[in-house]
Amino acid sequence: THMEMFVDELPDMPRIRGFDVVNGVPVSKSLKIGMFHKKWKFHRDLPLTPVFAFGTSKRTATVPGPTIEALHGIDTYVTWQNHLPSQHILPWDPTIPTAIPSTKLGIPTVVHLHGGIDEPESDGNAHSWFTARFKERGPAWTKKRYHYHNFQQPGNLWYHDHAMGLTRLNLLAGLIGAYIIRHPHVEAPLGLPNGDEFDRALVIFDRAFRSNGSIYMNSTGNNPSIHPQWQPEYFGDAIIVNGKAWPHMIIRRRKYRFRIINASNARFFRFYFTNGLEFFHIASDSAYHEQPVKLRELLLAPSEIADVVVDFSKSNSDQAILANDAPYPYPSGDPVNEANGKVMKFLVKKHREVDTGRIPKELIKYPSPDVSGSSVTRYIAMYEYTSAIDEPTHLFINGKSYEEPATEKPKVGTTEVWNVINLTEDNHPLHIHLGLFVVLDQTKLVNLDEFKACMLNTNDAIKCQVNKYASGKKTKVPEHEQGWKNVYKMTPGYVTKIFVRFSYIHSNTSYRFDATAEPGYVYHCHILDHEDNVMMRPLKFVH
Ligand code: C2O
Ligand code: CU
Repeated sequence: THMEMFVDELPDMPRIRGFDVVNGVPVSKSLKIGMFHKKWKFHRDLPLTPVFAFGTSKRTATVPGPTIEALHGIDTYVTWQNHLPSQHILPWDPTIPTAIPSTKLGIPTVVHLHGGIDEPESDGNAHSWFTARFKERGPAWTKKRYHYHNFQQPGNLWYHDHAMGLTRLNLLAGLIGAYIIRHPHVEAPLGLPNGDEFDRALVIFDRAFRSNGSIYMNSTGNNPSIHPQWQPEYFGDAIIVNGKAWPHMIIRRRKYRFRIINASNARFFRFYFTNGLEFFHIASDSAYHEQPVKLRELLLAPSEIADVVVDFSKSNSDQAILANDAPYPYPSGDPVNEANGKVMKFLVKKHREVDTGRIPKELIKYPSPDVSGSSVTRYIAMYEYTSAIDEPTHLFINGKSYEEPATEKPKVGTTEVWNVINLTEDNHPLHIHLGLFVVLDQTKLVNLDEFKACMLNTNDAIKCQVNKYASGKKTKVPEHEQGWKNVYKMTPGYVTKIFVRFSYIHSNTSYRFDATAEPGYVYHCHILDHEDNVMMRPLKFVH
């Protein structure tokens, strides 16, 4: 089907408050949000698409799901309800470690609040899945009603499925949504563009469709004799923003704030405006920066979040196309084409108006990394294994499957330095649950093949003299990425050094929950096709 670009208007997803107001005072709230099998209109010229959608009812469910707006310090409780059928709409693969309910009566799902600093029982562990009406429950299932503390710094989060071996499919099917934690007392003085019209979440992902409207995913694996369906990366040519393919947005000549979430399985985006407009980058993932950074282009890996202000009064034309030029897979794959190189179009109104939003000089300052105070230094290696036909079969962290016992057991409240060694040819966005980290530097590995051979043999970075090999050129972390993050791009052939903090960044209080409880947390590559097979490891906390 040919889909004309920029014909649909950009939707704003339904907003749900994660708090109640009683006598003018905000109080905690319990929500029920379901996952439904329904049809969704991605484009004027495309027939309806079967999807899995989040919503408070089947009728109101959307792709992406509603934006949950929470308040700092006010607890939000969500009972995530699975109303999905027994048949998946996408080809799943039972040969990778996968949640397979014994009765096969429903599709397993479990919701993770990405960027949330929350108790393990509510973190959406991959083995805490459940099927419709909680009929079947995974081995690490603990409870129905999740507790989101919202005690962390204000910022942008997103919720999405995390079921073992099905994450890539359940997200592709539509199980994603934005979640914002606001802290009016801290944020109002910044004077940033605000209100529903000028402060918008943009959830962006790529999809491919069949002419009947259904989502297309190659159902034959790249290594069919080993994994009949699993493919190492999913890419689609249609770029979807808030549930519409290449939408447009009518813009007033003033500043807007966009909270941009890359919700793709595997596609990196390098955004830029065709008319030279700039981004003022104010926050990355779930935390503000100290100062806004002006950028012409913005590289976002899957699951990274950029919070930006765009000043359309500076637009030299009445149209600005948000475009993308990131190769896929990133960094050494195919260049973008006509379709996936365009994202959306902004139609800028003629007359200038009084603009109350501003871009302040100073944003929010959090403590900077104190590397000397960190208690543990770890080496975390990323591997890709290939078959005789030189196609990937699986990806591991530290040469281990997810099922092997936890090797990363940090002490609650401490900080650690992780040296993440990427021995593959792709960039892997590493995401750590619970922790926030600062990227210190990235250093090229020299004689990579020699080092890699040793690592494949021993899996021991110290024995393989990682410090001798990590002596190539150092890449400085771009200014806008020097703050606190929860996911970052691990450059291939490099060691990325990060400083991880397992406590709140905005206060010295310890967690308001027991982080050592079962089922613990995880860390993983956020290319979903990698995460599922099985670039993911458990993360267990101890006292
Ligand atoms: Cu966005 Cu473990 O996930
Ligand atoms: Cu990866």
